[in-house]
Amino acid sequence: MNTPVLKSRLPNAGTTIFTTMSALAQQHEAVNLGQGFPDFGCDPALLAHVHDAMAEGLNQYPPMPGVPLLRERVAAKALALYGHSYNPATEVTVTAGATQAILTAVLACVHPGDEVLVLEPCFDSYGPNIELAGGVAVRVPLTPGSFRPDFERIGQALSARTRLVIVNSPHNPSATVWTRADYNQLAALLEGTDTLVISDEVYEHMVFDGLPHVSAASVPALAARAFVVSSFGKTYHVTGWKVGYVLAPTPLSAEFRKVHQFNVFTVNTPMQHALARYMESATPYLELSAFYQRKRDLFAEGLRKTRLRPLHTQGSYFQLVDYGAVSSLSEAAFCEWLTREIGVAAIPLSAFYDQNYEQGLVRLCFAKRDDTLEKALQRLARL
Ligand SMILES: Cc1ncc(COP(=O)(O)O)c(C=O)c1O
Repeated sequence: MNTPVLKSRLPNAGTTIFTTMSALAQQHEAVNLGQGFPDFGCDPALLAHVHDAMAEGLNQYPPMPGVPLLRERVAAKALALYGHSYNPATEVTVTAGATQAILTAVLACVHPGDEVLVLEPCFDSYGPNIELAGGVAVRVPLTPGSFRPDFERIGQALSARTRLVIVNSPHNPSATVWTRADYNQLAALLEGTDTLVISDEVYEHMVFDGLPHVSAASVPALAARAFVVSSFGKTYHVTGWKVGYVLAPTPLSAEFRKVHQFNVFTVNTPMQHALARYMESATPYLELSAFYQRKRDLFAEGLRKTRLRPLHTQGSYFQLVDYGAVSSLSEAAFCEWLTREIGVAAIPLSAFYDQNYEQGLVRLCFAKRDDTLEKALQRLARL
């Protein structure tokens, strides 16, 4: 029996670097600072809410856009933090993580041949999402070294065919944070166009040294054309639950929901009820920046005692390090070597570029218990 040949929709996609490095980390019993997830648990109160919701029989399909109380609480948070009023009935949609939110927004907006501007390095799902929609990714590099947006180049890359721009702050992998002036510059470039924006804000509650998180929701000219995406997985240490949400003006949300309802249709009911109840208090997300800032400082201080050079992390739970004093291997080869020989898994920055651009930098994740970070630092001190 022959299986028919399937013409791939994603011919260039292979196993992601995150899967490869995690497997290698396991094989060599390395401390896994590669993939971005916490190695500690969430608040037991959140787990109790899940248990309660299940025991109360909240186990059947919820409304298509999400459990009403959760949408109300998300809208209240956006109003309190970003000053924009989203209607929970028509402008807030609960998704299966930010990943599904971004794919759904791309599919809702992009027609074959449309251009989508992405800033490199970027999260690895953006490119394949654009490809699935039949769009053309136009890649503009963030300035090497600082990873600041270059608005002159962004302006030059925009065209009448640009349907969508995808931005991400706090940024994975560079750990930089956009200022209000950055968003204002983007808004000015898009004024008078039909270009839409996906603002990936999954690390919105991890911003350090007193910097604010500026949401696209807080810039009226952008909020009017933006899908603002966030992730409960990142905020509440439950990445495996895959629950997120998207905020967008009513006409954009309506098109988003058309794609959403024939894709996942709805998202896990008891988790949504639990998150809604847990969101009664703002404290957990308001305290998250301080929680991660302490880990950032502990980790960066330890790294400064090694031959790796840590770059400055403004936000997110990632730390870039320059390994130029240690090795001249390519980033991917260095990560493999580091995992095998030193016992610490990292991700090459080149994996976040379409053309594997090399800068001698790798990404480490510090969303780990202090003893995990100490163990990694002890090993890295041997370099
Ligand atoms: C920038 C960025 N966007 C989106 C996601 C996906 O979030 P979720 O796990 O909620 O799908 C991640 C996860 O690593 C990310 O780093």
